[in-house]
Amino acid sequence: MKKLYGVIGNPIGHSLSPLMHNDALSHLGIDAHYHAFRIKEEQLENAVKGFRAIEISGFNVTTPHKVDVMRYLDEVDELAGQIGAVNTVVNRNGALVGYNTDGIGYIRSLQSISKEPLQEKRILLLGAGGASRAIFFSLAALGVREADIANRTASRAQELIDACRYEIASKAITMEQAEAQQHEYDIIINTTTVGMSPHVADTPLPIRSLKRGAIVSDIIYNPFETRLLREAREAGAIVQNGVDMFVYQGALAFEYWTGQWPDVGRMKQTVITKLGG
Ligand code: ATR
Repeated sequence: MKKLYGVIGNPIGHSLSPLMHNDALSHLGIDAHYHAFRIKEEQLENAVKGFRAIEISGFNVTTPHKVDVMRYLDEVDELAGQIGAVNTVVNRNGALVGYNTDGIGYIRSLQSISKEPLQEKRILLLGAGGASRAIFFSLAALGVREADIANRTASRAQELIDACRYEIASKAITMEQAEAQQHEYDIIINTTTVGMSPHVADTPLPIRSLKRGAIVSDIIYNPFETRLLREAREAGAIVQNGVDMFVYQGALAFEYWTGQWPDVGRMKQTVITKLGG
């Protein structure tokens, strides 16, 4: 029987996941369909019950359900539990198991452009919201030794560091310190919303002087090249935008569901074409 996958969120109309996953499924000859479901907050429990009833094979979870969905699952993976958010659910013989592929997916995307292992790198995260939490905890879980966090509200950065149960050396710093010390980091990751369309003239970190060979990564993909990435590219850095994070979180979910690693280059092209790039 044809399998069913999907994504739940609200709103969900603009999600690129159906396009990306349906293309990957058909490309690999898997008899399945991936559908976007708009689920209102008050219908979340019913939606998960309905998914159990129809024996859905798996689904992604996006805003605003990533935290609340955990209540209705049978099991939550350790890292997802630490992060406190689930974006991928796998149906294992009737048991709904929650994972978080945002952070690990992001790290795989970072690894795909870094010639060296990430564990030894000095990393700076800008921002201390949900996206930063997923990435920071995943970096720590993967054995990265050093990652500092700069945030407009410095106390939120310290809270994130205090909440992390994996071993990692970290300092909470101000955005001003980040600007002054930017040349000390091998990898700088923007997880804030600063620079996102329509505020494209803004940047979370004016580029002054970067370390040689530095990687600057922005999880924003609208625009494709934020001011942060443009300045970093002009300063000679290796740059990466948020399309890769989106594609790799999806690829990892796809692997959890089907046991197969999809063609990420193809997934990326599908997304970029749709975004008009
Ligand atoms: P997400 O879940 O996508 O990470 P979030 O939890 O709302 O979103 O976090 C947004 C991040 O962007 C936060 O780190 C926020 O900083 P504060 O904690 O100080 O609010 C950061 N951010 C948003 N707008 C900003 C701005 N204009 N200047 C600097 N940081 C900003």
